[in-house]
Amino acid sequence: MKEQLQKIKEETQEQLVKLASSEELQELKIRVFGKKGTLTSLQKQMGALSAEERPLMGQIINDVRSQLEKACEAKLKEFEKQELEIRLREERIDITLPGYCLSRGHQHPLSKVIEEIEDIFIGMGFSIVEGPEIETDYYNFEALNLPKDHPARDMQDTFFITEDILLRTQTSPVQVRTMEKLVPQLPVKIIAPGKVFRNDDDATHSPMFHQVEGLLVDKGVRMSDLKGILLYFSRQMFGESREIRLRPSFFPFTEPSAEVDVSCMLCGGTGCRLCKGTGWIEILGSGMVHPRVLEMGGYDPKEVTGFAFGMGVERIAMLKYGIEDMRLLYDNDIRFLSQF
Ligand code: DAH
Repeated sequence: MKEQLQKIKEETQEQLVKLASSEELQELKIRVFGKKGTLTSLQKQMGALSAEERPLMGQIINDVRSQLEKACEAKLKEFEKQELEIRLREERIDITLPGYCLSRGHQHPLSKVIEEIEDIFIGMGFSIVEGPEIETDYYNFEALNLPKDHPARDMQDTFFITEDILLRTQTSPVQVRTMEKLVPQLPVKIIAPGKVFRNDDDATHSPMFHQVEGLLVDKGVRMSDLKGILLYFSRQMFGESREIRLRPSFFPFTEPSAEVDVSCMLCGGTGCRLCKGTGWIEILGSGMVHPRVLEMGGYDPKEVTGFAFGMGVERIAMLKYGIEDMRLLYDNDIRFLSQF
């Protein structure tokens, strides 16, 4: 039995040296210490020994067992260390490498300009309202003092859906919608940003573009209030040194009507390519709300007066940022957009 034990010991030690991985070590342990393992089988044979021999033999086997177990333990530690080193080498993170560059999204220049316009008017106590893009002929034209067959309807080339339903050509219909909702409250003091649609397409016109409408209705509103508010707006938007001028014009929903020019932001008024030598640049249409429009909104034109204005957001953005072709705003070329 002693010889057998010696043989198991030597064989196990020899095999231990040749092992290549912790898996192989596990297999060896099963072959030696497992239920049917060589050492376990030897122990089972001890029943055949005499009562005197048994404790002695038991002692020897246990010594060998613990020696071999220790050797296995040491081998396991060795493998674990090796495997960890391999993993560290393979998974090493080089913190000196430059990181992946995630390009951050940001606001479109048109959204930025709309927000800026909103902020300026919110600062003067205006509220922001919205209206539908698909509009009825009534709100887009009739209620704005543009009856059917009125020649001024041709000022805007309309996309009709049916005879009475269309894509709104302007944000002005929100004026009447808002008055209807608020009447008889005073003041009505809103701006209405949004998309509008016209059958137009070139470097300065797009079939879809954005406007911001403004409306102030109250007792005793005068044209000088309009001028003051628009002067303040122009200076906030284009710089403190801007001046404005009102030129007589015509819109069916205002009387009197005026187009508003701002002193050129490029040359300051001396005349340049941008202002075509005039020193002035048109930025919006405006006027005193026509009595008929106040009536359509439910207000009594003998009691209240109001002013209104409407501006094109693309135009404001192009002037503010010196963009020459409106289509650049819709191409979504990231090289263009990321400049703002
Ligand atoms: N709706 C006009 C347009 O699209 C712009 C406009 C002019 C709006 C005068 C107004 C206004 O509110 O008073 O051309």
